[in-house]
Order: sequence, then C-alpha cells, then structure tokens
Amino acid sequence: MDQLEKLVSQAIADFEAARDANSLEQAKAQYLGKSGSLSELLKGLGKMEPEARREAGAAINRAKAAVEQALEARRDALRQAALEAQLAAEALDVTLPGRGRGHGGLHPVTRTLERIEQLFASIGFAVADGPEIESDWYNFTALNTPENHPARSMHDTFYLQDADKVLLRTHTSPVQVRYMHQHVERYKDLATMPEIRIIAPGRVYRVDYDATHSPMFHQIEGLWVGERVSFVDLKGVVAEFLRRFFETDELQLRFRPSFFPFTEPSAEIDFAFMSGPNKGKWLEIAGCGVVHPNVLRHGGIDPERYTGFAFGMGLDRLTMLRYGVDDLRLFFENDLRFLSQFR
Ligand code: FA5
Ligand code: MG
Repeated sequence: MDQLEKLVSQAIADFEAARDANSLEQAKAQYLGKSGSLSELLKGLGKMEPEARREAGAAINRAKAAVEQALEARRDALRQAALEAQLAAEALDVTLPGRGRGHGGLHPVTRTLERIEQLFASIGFAVADGPEIESDWYNFTALNTPENHPARSMHDTFYLQDADKVLLRTHTSPVQVRYMHQHVERYKDLATMPEIRIIAPGRVYRVDYDATHSPMFHQIEGLWVGERVSFVDLKGVVAEFLRRFFETDELQLRFRPSFFPFTEPSAEIDFAFMSGPNKGKWLEIAGCGVVHPNVLRHGGIDPERYTGFAFGMGLDRLTMLRYGVDDLRLFFENDLRFLSQFR
C-alpha cells in the first residue's frame, strides 16, 4: 500500500501548491474526479478476490478520506487568505486626515433681508410679495404715475418685447396696491378691517449702472395703513428700525423733501454714521411718504377714513452700509473671494 501513501502525499502537495480556488478544484479532479486516480483504484476492486477486495477497499477509502480532508483544509485556508486580502485592500484608515468639504453660506443680501424681516416681524409687520414681471398698471398707473412721467420712459424701464404693457418692475411699490386688493378681498367689511402692516422685499430692475446702482437690485417696501397713521409714525418706525438694524444710536437721518406721484408729502431718506470709519458719509437709502389718496382709492380703500405711510428701502444699500462695502455691484459678480468673507 506504499502506492496509496504516495498518492495521498502527492495529493496534499498538489493541493498545497494551488494558489486559488480554481486551481484547487482542478487538482481535486485528478484524485477525486470521475476518472481521478482514487476513483480508478476503486473501480479496480471489482476484479479482486473477496478477501483481498475488503482489505484493499478499506485502505483506498482511508486514503480517499485523507485526500478529502486535505482538500477541505486547503479550501478553508484559501478562503481565509482571500478574505484577509480583501480586508487589507478595503481597509479604512480612520486616523487619516479628512478631505474636508466646502461650506456654503448665505449671500450678504440674504442675511440682511432675514435680519430686516425679523426686526419688522417684531413690531407686527407681515411679509408680502408680488411678481417681478409686472403690469404697467400696478407698476405705474395704480401708483398715480401719469403717462408722461419720466420713470415710464424706455431709458429707465425694461419693457418686455411683444407683451402688452408688461415690464420688469422698477420698484416694489406695486405690491402696495396688490396687497390692498388682497386685504379688502379678505376682510369684506371695511368697518372692521384690521390695519395693513407689511413689508414686501424683492428684486427690481432699472436701466442703471454705477457703484451705488445696479440694473437688478433689491428693495423692501413698507406699508402701514390704518385710521390715524401719519408721517410721525413713519419717522418713528424707520428711525427705530435703523437703530436696531445697525445696533447703534450713532447714526443720522435726513428726511429730504422729494417727490413721488404715489405719496404726499414725499421724502428721500439719507443716512450717515456719526462715528466709525464711514462717519459723515451720506447715502440715500430709501424713498418714502404718506400714501396718496388716489393710491388708496385704486386699492379699494376709503381715503377719507384711512391714511398710511409707505417706504421703499434699498436692501443692497443697507447691506453696503452694514458691511462697509463701497461698490454695490460686488454683491452680484459672484466672486467667491468676496462672498466667502460673509460666511
Ligand atoms: C422708489 O423706488 C420708490 N418706490 C420708493 C418709495 C416707496 C417712495 C414708497 C414712497 C413710498 P427710489 O427710486 O428713490 O424710490 O428708490 C428707493 C431706494 O432704492 C433708493 O433710495 C436706493 O436706496 C435704492 N436704489 C434705487 N436705485 C438703485 C439701483 N439702481 N441700485 C441699487 N439700489 C437702488
Ligand atoms: Mg430716490
């Protein structure tokens, strides 16, 4: 039975030499396959005498068991090695420094807007809005602006081609009359109608371009309509708002007499800090006034009973002042070196 021992050790050596599952299965076939050497030996038993056959059969089966055991052991070893290789290849080194991630941030104009909305909400102003593509009627006519007013000229306003009397709104003031309509619709009984107290922020468009004028910019309209609302309230609200917005009392306001067809009297609000690096530099930040009776009428509100004030503030101008930026166009150039300073 020398031959059987040799065969077993040869099989063990062949299995050992197999580097992967595939070659191991090929090696297996040589010994345990249909025409493998052990199978051939078993087939030969038939020609033996019964006595010899029993002995030889037992020996061959022992050899077969030994080969099968060696095969199983090698299979396990290869499986384990493959798993270890995979673990090593896919290892995650949690001690390596991270790759980092860019953090976005709010645009400075958005920050200013959110702050303003909060401040006005705290004194009972709701936020309203209106379309940027506006009708000539809401943008001008409803606001008592006559056909021949210079603001209606092609030099100042972006009209939409082929559309009948439609334009990019030149200010947020059209929201005044739009909101009055909604309000009157909601509270049919004008006798018990609550006051209107809103701000209406948004984009507006004009044919303008310099350090303090951008063709697209943002305004915040303010409107307060009630039974005894006057210019005094306007001054109080605006002054208190600005003190809170800039977190200082060291500021000066100038209500400079002006003209708007939709307010009477009208003023422009100029602003300057009384201290700090920009001390004494005046900048116009808003137009304002007492709502013209014709505007209330267009909105369906009785001007004999109600009065109101309105203002239109330059949101980008307030942002310039708050952050000490001297060219407003920087806000809209999307230069990350500039914007990332506000994160
Ligand atoms: C108006 O637009 C009026 N609708 C304001 C108003 C509302 C008056 C309600 C009365 C009642 P004005 O054209 O002055 O007014 O613009 C208002 C503010 O918008 C200006 O004070 C300025 O701060 C800002 N502004 C105007 N044009 C530009 C521009 N091209 N770029 C940036 N800000 C601008
Ligand atoms: Mg102005």
